[in-house]
Amino acid sequence: MIVKIALTVAPIALALFLVNYSMFIFLRLIRHSKTRKMKVFFAKIARYVMKVHLPFALVGTGLILVHAVIMMFYHPLSILALTKLSGMLALMMLWIHLYSGYLKLKRTSRKRQRIHVLTAFTLLITILIHIL
Ligand code: HEM
Ligand code: HEM
Repeated sequence: MIVKIALTVAPIALALFLVNYSMFIFLRLIRHSKTRKMKVFFAKIARYVMKVHLPFALVGTGLILVHAVIMMFYHPLSILALTKLSGMLALMMLWIHLYSGYLKLKRTSRKRQRIHVLTAFTLLITILIHIL
């Protein structure tokens, strides 16, 4: 029963994270737009999506914590099962990624942006390993 809660919150968190990943696409659509009109159009969407970036990251992390604690202690699999180990790896990557977002928020730079993107996609890979 409690495992069902963990299985429900994880995809919700994942959906919130995916909205955050869409920033990557929108920023590139802005950069590669041919006309000024298209640039302004995508910039409007990006501004809107960026407004929810931090709230979605924090709510998603909260939900994943619920998922992680329940799975660790109540899921019948051994704590050394690959699903659990890969989940813990993804959780560790999530902390590193959140820290990179925090650094970027404090003071942005080209280097910090690269690190945020790099950790974002490393996190995505660890999540995919965990759920596939
Ligand atoms: C960023 C961190 C995490 C994300 C995004 C995440 C996401 C997910 C998702 C979406 C599923 C459902 C997959 C499916 O329906 O087949 C899942 C399943 C599972 N997760 Fe996680 N998870 C994370 C961390 C963890 C942690 C830390 C643990 C515990 C050690 C864990 C343990 C499990 C287990 C055991 C299942 C399989 C449940 C089953 O199929 O019966 N996860 N996870
Ligand atoms: C799991 C959560 C998160 C994901 C998946 C994520 C992903 C992304 C991605 C893919 C971009 C686009 C970067 C680019 O292409 O240059 C981005 C931008 C950004 N993120 Fe995150 N991020 C997350 C959490 C955070 C957090 C927690 C913060 C702040 C504390 C943050 C702050 C920012 C900022 C300031 C930008 C820059 C937007 C701009 O350049 O205008 N992110 N994020």
